Amino acid sequence: MRLVRVGTVQKGLCPFHHEKTPSFTVDERRGTFHCFGCGAHGNAIDFVMRTENLGFREAVERLAGEVGLALPRETPADRARGERQATLHEVLAAAAEWFAGRLADRRVGAAAWSYLEHRGLDAAAIDRFGLGFAPPGRTALKEALTARYSESLLVEAGLLGRPEDGGPTYDRFRGRVMFPIHDARGRVVGFGGRVLGDGEPKYLNSPETELFQKGRLLYGLHWAGPAARKAAEVVAVEGYMDVIALHLAGIETAVAPLGTALTEQQIALLWKLAPEPTLCFDGDAAGQRAAARAAERALPHLKPGYSLRFALLPAGDDPDSLVRGRGADAMRALLAAARPLRDVLWEGETAGGRLDTPERRAGLRQRLRAVAGRIEDRATQQDYQEEFARACDALFAAPREPRAAPWRADGRRPLAGRPPQGHFTARPAGWRPSAAPDQQRIEESGLLSLAIGHAARVPEIAEGLGGMTFRTPPLEAVRADLMAALALDRLDSEAIERHLTRLGHGPTLDRLRAMAVRAGLVSTGPETSSEEALFQWRYFLIAWQQADLRRERDAAERRFAESGAADDFRSLQRVLGQIEMLGRERSELDLDRQVFLRTRTGRL
Ligand code: UTP
Ligand code: MN
Repeated sequence: MRLVRVGTVQKGLCPFHHEKTPSFTVDERRGTFHCFGCGAHGNAIDFVMRTENLGFREAVERLAGEVGLALPRETPADRARGERQATLHEVLAAAAEWFAGRLADRRVGAAAWSYLEHRGLDAAAIDRFGLGFAPPGRTALKEALTARYSESLLVEAGLLGRPEDGGPTYDRFRGRVMFPIHDARGRVVGFGGRVLGDGEPKYLNSPETELFQKGRLLYGLHWAGPAARKAAEVVAVEGYMDVIALHLAGIETAVAPLGTALTEQQIALLWKLAPEPTLCFDGDAAGQRAAARAAERALPHLKPGYSLRFALLPAGDDPDSLVRGRGADAMRALLAAARPLRDVLWEGETAGGRLDTPERRAGLRQRLRAVAGRIEDRATQQDYQEEFARACDALFAAPREPRAAPWRADGRRPLAGRPPQGHFTARPAGWRPSAAPDQQRIEESGLLSLAIGHAARVPEIAEGLGGMTFRTPPLEAVRADLMAALALDRLDSEAIERHLTRLGHGPTLDRLRAMAVRAGLVSTGPETSSEEALFQWRYFLIAWQQADLRRERDAAERRFAESGAADDFRSLQRVLGQIEMLGRERSELDLDRQVFLRTRTGRL
């Protein structure tokens, strides 16, 4: 942090809120800080507690250590606070032990035990993660613990609820599997309780207490810490069960927020472990929104060397289901293929948009400048600005769909290709169709992803898929097996994926997913509506056919140029006619789509 002396105080950028002009002051004589922007105020100890996320005692120890002092004597108030916290820790540890005991007691915990077994956890796992069971009665825990601790302490620990009307206190957690939540030092600070099976809320968490501040904790942090620091890698997933499943599968760098969007403090905690934490959120719409929100949160704080990466799960999967369904290697591959924040931001702005007019292209540049502008670190911001500008240059210079070569009045020879015109959609930089087959691989990836998600429900997709042969061998292998599977059985997309994975197509499917995302097809999975899928399918089909026809045209042009024969002229004309027809189909599709989007938003 940089401070500049101004009069009797020093000024700088406030570490407690985001600002561009300094309103944070330090008064050395008084030993205090004050921010005129957000009102943050305090002394050196408060400062260390807040910036380092430490308790009072730890902050004092840290400061004393820095200047080589023995610990100053505590004031009575400090001692009271310390003692209360120690007691709270003790109460929570006792509760965790009691919950674990209820789970182990077969007469009480049988249902919870079989629920956990059904989720793939055995006794060793239950012990390792300290899981327990809160029995259904209203006062079971209360009766067990009030012998040792006062009722008000149990309320303060978030274990008992106190009704507003002054009625008797009651157990907060009833009939739930209990997940103890620890602080970075491994002390229990709260719980998440899951219903057995269905019910609302699915997870009930401890209320915010002095020790349990959801936004400052990460589930699994003290388990993941050593492995994460060693590997300089950390993975943030969404759920408690996801953390547990990954640790059990040997991916011991997993942590999770506590059911809320990742906060800035949590991102800071992740950055203490690894410079580029990987966020691995569920493959459903909510998970994708959570990822976008995390990107938003992190953006202002990016600094040299520190960023985020995003691993994309297949729709409908969470890390728990993925690792148990397809194994740790599949999960590792998915994490290794995580995409940098830069790509996610770029795709967020370019995906699906049309860039066929100068205004639209200028609009994209402007949006990207605004995104990069939110990065507070100067050097990082500048690099982002340059990176996006370069990517736009490359994108706009990319070859566009060529038109049919114009035909000369004498009918003898096509002119050399004109400068490209017409429609093209945004594509990430570094991903430019160079050779024709490569271009078709993109289309084939899109078609295949859509077919896996929707062929079982959308006849046009199944029929279309049956009538084509892909040019890319591994994709063609998947296509053939998919057709065979569809002919045999009415399968949903999950069953199809499982089937294809069993046939050894797992790696191809993983690549397919990455590709579909890079092509701006964020939603090919089963959560996409059939109508939407069909639109996407038609777009890709047209593009795929266009690529075929362009190759045919080039060959026909060459033949005619050599021979000048009437037959060759006619076949060239036929191909050009087909290309034109596809172009018309494409425009009609664009029109249909606009109508579709308008009526849909009209209805909302
Ligand atoms: P998910 O619904 O994705 O839970 O919520 P999950 O962990 O996959 O649940 P299982 O596999 O069905 O057991 C992700 C996280 O959001 C929080 C919890 O922290 C959960 O782990 N959450 C979810 C809540 O706090 N309350 C809820 O009602 C639901
Ligand atoms: Mn789950």
